[in-house]
Amino acid sequence: MCGIVGAIADRDVALVLLEGLKRLEYRGYDSAGLAIIDARAQLQCHRAVGKVNELEKLLVSKPLQGQIGIAHTRWATHGKPSDLNAHPHIANNEIAIVHNGIIENYEKLRARLVDFGCVLSSETDSELIAHLVYLHIQSGKNFLAAVQATITELEGAYAIGLLSRTEPNHFIAVRSGSPLVIGLGDQINFIASDQLALLPFTQQFIFLEEGDIADVRLNEVIIYDTHGNEVKRDIHYTKLDQEEMSKGKYQHFMQKEIFEQADSVIACLEGRLSYQRVISEAFGANANEIFKQIRHVQLVACGTSYHACLVGKYWLEEIAGISCQAEIASENRYRQHVVEPGTLYVTLSQSGETADTLAALRHAKTLGYAATLAICNVPESSLVRESDLVLMTGAGMEIGVASTKAFTTQLVALFLLTITLGRNSRIDQNSEAEYVKLLRAIPKKLRNTLMLDSDIKNLAIKLKDKNHVLFIGRGIEYPIALEGALKLKEISYIHAEAFPAGELKHGPIALIDSEMYAIALAPIEDSLDKLKSNLQEIRAREGKLIICTNEEAGFISDDQTSLLIMPHVHKFLAPLIYTIPMQLFAYHIAVMKGTDLDQPRNLAKSVTVE
Ligand code: G6P
Repeated sequence: MCGIVGAIADRDVALVLLEGLKRLEYRGYDSAGLAIIDARAQLQCHRAVGKVNELEKLLVSKPLQGQIGIAHTRWATHGKPSDLNAHPHIANNEIAIVHNGIIENYEKLRARLVDFGCVLSSETDSELIAHLVYLHIQSGKNFLAAVQATITELEGAYAIGLLSRTEPNHFIAVRSGSPLVIGLGDQINFIASDQLALLPFTQQFIFLEEGDIADVRLNEVIIYDTHGNEVKRDIHYTKLDQEEMSKGKYQHFMQKEIFEQADSVIACLEGRLSYQRVISEAFGANANEIFKQIRHVQLVACGTSYHACLVGKYWLEEIAGISCQAEIASENRYRQHVVEPGTLYVTLSQSGETADTLAALRHAKTLGYAATLAICNVPESSLVRESDLVLMTGAGMEIGVASTKAFTTQLVALFLLTITLGRNSRIDQNSEAEYVKLLRAIPKKLRNTLMLDSDIKNLAIKLKDKNHVLFIGRGIEYPIALEGALKLKEISYIHAEAFPAGELKHGPIALIDSEMYAIALAPIEDSLDKLKSNLQEIRAREGKLIICTNEEAGFISDDQTSLLIMPHVHKFLAPLIYTIPMQLFAYHIAVMKGTDLDQPRNLAKSVTVE
């Protein structure tokens, strides 16, 4: 989390940095700051609590001028959001730093620096790095050597950008555990946490490898690897389009992204289906060879992506007959694994930079899994680069912090995986052709479901003043209930919990009274009668129900029960379609409550710290 950007140019860079920060706000937005070296070789710095527009106001009233600078938008880890804890941090008016990540040996370093007489002005771990670099310079090293020496003392994850007042013709950037790209322009070079920050200025990028140090100059960028050897890294030309970063006719990015889902599923399926088959090479040229050995699957992710894993587990076991575990990455990485021979380790991530997921993958690679597969939305991400096989979800840029279209495309990707793996077990040519037909029908079903928007908005009015809402599902709908509860929590701040319907009687039913609303997901499926009994138990305790269902399921509305009648869909693909009302309930409730739903409090889109 936290976004960093830096630039060196033949012109003033303050406004370029500000523009970059605005595009990185999805990474954190509790404070922001910017430092430049001015024409008199002095470090100048502005910092402001709040979003980047607070920093912008400061820059309007007190402009900063200089041709080299670094900037930061923060998601607090060490120390609350405040002017003093905002980055850049400056040591002795000589070294400025912006940092994304966490320094784990922070306490030891802090004690050492305090003993040494350093005056620290913030509670952050990041400021320590600036002081360490300063001390190395004092001991006679040049700027680059001082940074190289400093990073040998750091434990943890970091992407950093550093300025030295006495060496204003370059700045230094380091990537170790947190993302960082170099942008190459005409008489201007950059660093940023994400290429999105730099799209208005350049389409040429270098993706630093773990441990790389970049010496960024006006006309060249020199990169050193972990061992200090100069290395060449490939230059990539991005096809990402700036237009994707505008809201178009929509009020919020999240709304736009919800309504894009039919198109993003089409994009996800593009090139993946032949007439009646899934093209397994879509996972990588050697995918077929690898898939032949696969007998088990371990799915790993965080947040919304984890909910996709839970749906994937149902599909893989029920459709493909392949045993599957799904686990949250931050748990998976820290426990003992029993790796069955022939297990495919699959990570799911919108960003491909989520620290826990990435760490889980790196750990898994040491444990003897048959192969690793990343299902991801960002082609240049670390997860993609570090996995054996890759399936890109192709959802397009997702900007709203609460994930929507990335989720539905992850589901499609998991369905493709299920069919592909199932070929070696249970799925014959005829059933594959049937599943392919189902997949092709999804975009239309999504469009029809999105047309229920105003019905969903009307139902949302019932929930907007509630403090608690329950989400109920059974079987393959349970993960979607979890996703509904997560969406509501994330953007409306209403406390929401999801339960498998059969579990209500083991505790949650104690919460039911006439004030409690439960949203139930109830398409026609095998356990519908059981679900109906569970919902009766809520009604018997005066609880209110909103049931998302289809006509054939036979529910009747009354004072206690409202219905949202959904398009009919095959039971296996119901999760995709029933996700839409979950997203739209949360969206409309958040709009009614007036929250900042594209950038909800305390959250960030890409969580690059543990
Ligand atoms: C953050 C985001 C969530 C997202 C999760 C995992 O918490 O706010 O929306 O689901 O990270 O992100 P990933 O990029 O790995 O899917």
